[in-house]
Amino acid sequence: MSLKIVVIVGSLRKASFNTKLADGLQTLAPDDISFDRQRIDDLPLYNQDDDKDQPGPTKGLKQAIRAADGVLFVTPEYNRSVPGVLKNAIDHASRPYGDSAFAGKPAGVIGVSVGAIGTACAQQHLRTILAYLDMPTFGQPEAFLKANDALDKDGGIADGSREFLQKWVDGYVAWVRRFNR
Ligand code: FNR
Repeated sequence: MSLKIVVIVGSLRKASFNTKLADGLQTLAPDDISFDRQRIDDLPLYNQDDDKDQPGPTKGLKQAIRAADGVLFVTPEYNRSVPGVLKNAIDHASRPYGDSAFAGKPAGVIGVSVGAIGTACAQQHLRTILAYLDMPTFGQPEAFLKANDALDKDGGIADGSREFLQKWVDGYVAWVRRFNR
């Protein structure tokens, strides 16, 4: 069964390592998996006053998530947590109360940083958020990546990380299939 996975990258930076990682992960997935990377840079700051008539970009993001079989979060760590732009996107798509686009969607969490702990803190915080949003989240293997190790000089998956990341992608795809039989 072919599956569609929405990808949300927690960095707006043009040369983002996480965007490169997201692109690289897609090359490791089987042919029947399609990826739909959603932009989050067009979302305004979340304002609960707008819940009755959500901004156009919010509606588009929610529609894409609803149409997907799973959601893959690829994020840097900012100050030992989730970047504000990612939290803003999650807040948008989770609201209004009772109308979250995320509920029940199988999630994957991965990230790359220049720091030694490879986004571990950000990922743990993100897992707490996703648990509240009722998203079953792929658990093992965890992937805490350093840019120098995970990516080559052209931004592709580095040879030394390919085997591990292939295992991670295979595991996440199997996880998504479990919830879409
Ligand atoms: C960082 N960075 C960072 N790295 C890390 O490992 N732990 C951290 O807590 C932080 N904190 C942090 C805060 C802010 C505001 C910035 C801008 C950066 C460094 C971060 O890993 C690096 O900038 C990455 O390149 C960000 O990912 P992208 O944009 O390349 O995907």
